[in-house]
Amino acid sequence: MSHRESRFFLVLALLAFLTAATTGAILRFGLFLGMPSWIHNFGAVRHAHSHLMYFGWGTVALMALIWTRLPGLTGRPLARGVRAQMVATSAVALLSFPAFWSNGYGLTRVGSLELPLGSMVAVLNILSWIVFVVLYVRSTRRLAERPLPLQLWDWAIVLMMVASAGAVSLGVEVTLDLRNPFLQQAGLHLFLDLFAVGWFTLALLGLVWDWLGQRVALPDWLPSQSLATALALTFFLGMSPSLVPPGLFWVAALANLVAGILLAWHLVQLWKRRAQLPRLAWFGMAALALHVSIAVTLLWPDLWRWSGGTQLRIFFLHNLLLGWLSSMLLALILAEQVRLARPVLQLAEGAWILSVATMLAALLGLGFVQFLPVPGHVWLEVAAWASLGPILTGGLTLAGLLLTQEAPVSMAPFPEVTGD
Ligand code: HEM
Repeated sequence: MSHRESRFFLVLALLAFLTAATTGAILRFGLFLGMPSWIHNFGAVRHAHSHLMYFGWGTVALMALIWTRLPGLTGRPLARGVRAQMVATSAVALLSFPAFWSNGYGLTRVGSLELPLGSMVAVLNILSWIVFVVLYVRSTRRLAERPLPLQLWDWAIVLMMVASAGAVSLGVEVTLDLRNPFLQQAGLHLFLDLFAVGWFTLALLGLVWDWLGQRVALPDWLPSQSLATALALTFFLGMSPSLVPPGLFWVAALANLVAGILLAWHLVQLWKRRAQLPRLAWFGMAALALHVSIAVTLLWPDLWRWSGGTQLRIFFLHNLLLGWLSSMLLALILAEQVRLARPVLQLAEGAWILSVATMLAALLGLGFVQFLPVPGHVWLEVAAWASLGPILTGGLTLAGLLLTQEAPVSMAPFPEVTGD
């Protein structure tokens, strides 16, 4: 597969980002000005936003970058079928947006039928990820040694599959009309939370360590399996506190502490090598450091119970997904794939850092609104205006990708598929 093709999938990922970010900005303005009349179901549109971000932006961009880097690590061509898998994964990811738009995971009338459109498209996405896993295993099996990025991707993929079981269980619950709040919440958070802290975070760490491994010596050892095991248990903390028995809370809280320590270990090692990383990546690392620090405070059960009733969840999610995941992905794409004139690059990075930091601060302000002298509508307004910044940076990156002709200097080539 040529560079042109790998770039094609990053273009699709950025289109998904721009569509979902524009939807998010419309929701943000709607929250303080009133929703536009064509948004009939806020919850469903929020699902359309979050699923397009997960499936179309995060997942497609990570997979495209992993496929690009893998041959350089294994010394082998990719297994046959990668291109078809990427076409299928991108297509069903983009489909998730219309599928979730009207009723989310609920039933939507199509002609004379009532169909769980969101769940059906989620299953199609999961099937395409299973193909990704099969091709990844075929491309990497029986290697004499597995370098750190590969170890992290191995575990990222395991957690992606575990998280997918949550989305499947949501679909099964809707289809069978099961109304068990514990199962409903467990399925939702197994998917939403573990997909983000498991698949996204470990896959991204693998990409960053691979980037660094091309430039400087890597540490002899860093946690991957232990980190994945600890992360796998943390999703219970995302559930509504009234549904989580104390025993389960303590298992999840201790796992969260261990995961926080292991992630901090990665962060310290990354920070020591920060001179080799783009500035936008520093911002991403700061967001991950904030995430780890907050995660540790959840050991205090009263704080966890209290925060469940506030807007802090939206802050916590976006700090991880926008602050860490999206900043780091954009940093890697801008550094590796795009040649922008220096002032344009500075505008893109500056607009991102300023707007994302402002939006996160406003979401934090909303979370603590009852203790602050600033009323809620001010935080909502600030968050809404700040939501325009990511659209500007996403648009500049997309334009840069489309306009950059020459092959990137720093990447291993994406070789022709020969099959095995
Ligand atoms: C680009 C800027 C973004 C904006 C303006 C934005 C906006 C929003 C808004 C307005 C909500 C609903 C908040 C509420 O219910 O009070 C939301 C929820 C959410 N967003 Fe974003 N968002 C952005 C980026 C992202 C990214 C990058 C991701 C993931 C990669 C993401 C994933 C989510 C998730 C998972 C939810 C919660 C969904 C749920 O609870 O059903 N967002 N976002």
